[in-house]
Amino acid sequence: MEVLIHRSAEAGGRVVADVVEDVVRRGPTVLGLATGSSPLLAYAELIRRHREEGLSFARVEAFLLDEYVGLPAGHPESYREVIRRELTGHLDIDADRVHAPDGSHPDPPAAAAEYEKSLVGVGVQILGIGTNGHIGFNEPGSSLMSLTRVKTLARQTRDDNARFFGDSIDAVPRHVITQGLGTIARAGHLVLTAAGEHKAAAVAAAVEGPLTASCPASILQWHPHVTVVLDDAAASRLERASFYREIAAQKPAWA
Ligand code: F6R
Repeated sequence: MEVLIHRSAEAGGRVVADVVEDVVRRGPTVLGLATGSSPLLAYAELIRRHREEGLSFARVEAFLLDEYVGLPAGHPESYREVIRRELTGHLDIDADRVHAPDGSHPDPPAAAAEYEKSLVGVGVQILGIGTNGHIGFNEPGSSLMSLTRVKTLARQTRDDNARFFGDSIDAVPRHVITQGLGTIARAGHLVLTAAGEHKAAAVAAAVEGPLTASCPASILQWHPHVTVVLDDAAASRLERASFYREIAAQKPAWA
């Protein structure tokens, strides 16, 4: 696991964009996309590179991590809409090649199983982390080998996400379809990005705590290719922060 700590969230966003640009320029690729606030600076930077530097996403296929259950199609807070608004709608990627679980399906478990089957060959998977250590919407207690399925959101997550629903926790759906931890772990390269002190405890548990379902993001420790991109505040509870900084500063050209 590589842990990169930057002074600002903006610098972190550029690093995540660099990882994505590198695979996109190499040829056809499948990207795994997170929604929420964490990747927004990276997404804004990718849109800028598309507009100003000709970075093309025409050969990209994309899969979202998760979706709320029960929001009508086209709801502004459905993750399909959020990703269109924040990223894919500004790129030259065919809308039919951007996939999300169908949260308005009358049979959510069937929609989850169908999504799981479609998920193949994800190269780079972008991840955020919840304040309770979730990735995707795999809340604490999720099986470390779980596949895409319906989950119930933890109260803390609904509280955290109320800001997207007019600050009303009651407006936040209770159920979601999320890629499982086993599904996420199939991606070739996991890139988790976090900024702000409110993420520091979850980041420390994920990176330096035990591998446990109590902190679903700790599954990162089990994966062979992980990059964690943090700002100083999100890194503030890491015991080995100075070692990670030293590794990054001394990185040889061949690494
Ligand atoms: C969203 C997702 C979640 C978020 C996490 C952090 O698709 O999978 O795991 O990444 O809840 O959310 P933000 O970035 O809004 O703090």
